[in-house]
Amino acid sequence: PEEQTFALIKPEAVKTHKDEIIQKVKEAGFSISKVKEEALTREMAAQFYKDHEGKPFFEDLVNCMTQGPSVIMVLSKENAVEEWRKLMGPTDPEEAKRTCPESIRAQFAHDILSNAVHGSSNIEAAARSLLVPSEF
Ligand code: CMP
Repeated sequence: PEEQTFALIKPEAVKTHKDEIIQKVKEAGFSISKVKEEALTREMAAQFYKDHEGKPFFEDLVNCMTQGPSVIMVLSKENAVEEWRKLMGPTDPEEAKRTCPESIRAQFAHDILSNAVHGSSNIEAAARSLLVPSEF
């Protein structure tokens, strides 16, 4: 069945590879149901990385996510949550380059924090994140 997921192009990648990433999203057969370019507030970033609160990289992650505008999208496709995770590739770009050279992170990520894109891990996280941006 058709599913929706929450996808985000991180600030560093918005500056450097926005059009190429959107092109890959479309080529992979996702429809972009909603899209909005907006700088996350610290509150928004902390909310949608709630599961990582307390980890040693949490502050750096929030800083990295609030340094400029992100592109926030709702993607629709059959099996969208899993399909988007596959297209992103592994979290660590070095691992992505080794194991999934066609993935977005292999091709466009800068480092593990500025790893080009984010996507929900599961349907529950997707539903939660879809509530975060003010006008979604
Ligand atoms: P993302 O998919 O946005 O979800 C959580 C983010 O935390 C992840 O991408 C990385 O940017 C970051 N992250 C996860 N693990 C680590 C780690 N070990 N060191 C630094 N950053 C990490």
